[in-house]
Amino acid sequence: MSRLRLGVLISGRGSNLQALIDAAANPDYPATINLVISSRADAVGTERARHAGIPPRVIADTDRERFAAEAHHALRGAGVDLVVLAGFMRILHHGFVESWRDRLVNIHPSLLPAFPGLHPQRQALAAGVRFSGCTVHFVRPEVDTGPIIGQAVVPVLPDDDEDRLSARILSVEHRLYPLAIRLYAEGRLTIVEDRVVIKGAGAATELGETVLLNPPDVCEALASRAG
Ligand code: GRF
Repeated sequence: MSRLRLGVLISGRGSNLQALIDAAANPDYPATINLVISSRADAVGTERARHAGIPPRVIADTDRERFAAEAHHALRGAGVDLVVLAGFMRILHHGFVESWRDRLVNIHPSLLPAFPGLHPQRQALAAGVRFSGCTVHFVRPEVDTGPIIGQAVVPVLPDDDEDRLSARILSVEHRLYPLAIRLYAEGRLTIVEDRVVIKGAGAATELGETVLLNPPDVCEALASRAG
């Protein structure tokens, strides 16, 4: 089996990079990480890459066009098939986004299209939503837009603050990103009219019947009275 070649772009902690490193350590996983690019020399994620035997490439140039040219060159040189943004904190040059169209994915810690941009967990708390989560999507030029591959949902709990909600979302990010990339690597994703169609995703699954109520105790009591 030839495995999909990933180039991962990071700027910080790199816990999603770690989740992908861990997934790719299994020889049955259909992708390998061939290049890690960091926009910061001191990103914790660069240590994780080194530890996994992938010498990180640091491109700290803040000029958008020069960054794009250098990153593009490095990704092509490493034979990368799919570019994976994992906590990459720069806005990419539109030419880069166009060159990697449909071969560039991102993870965002909200249920897009809700709460794009900075501090999505803070935005979710301020809006008072009962559920939030994360989204893996193909990247389009506007920030945090593009066809959605998958989402994971977590409840927002009464005593949540930004840190607690972020941690709960992050733990599901680490599960969703490797799964979404597996789907891509297995050739199961097609984009039709800017929406992702997943081959083999049956309509009549258990999930189709799932209703989540939050707050669970209050909602369930009301539902039984209504019934
Ligand atoms: C994650 O919450 C990701 O969704 C967002 O930035 C954060 C990166 O965390 N885009 P890490 O660097 O992967 O730990």
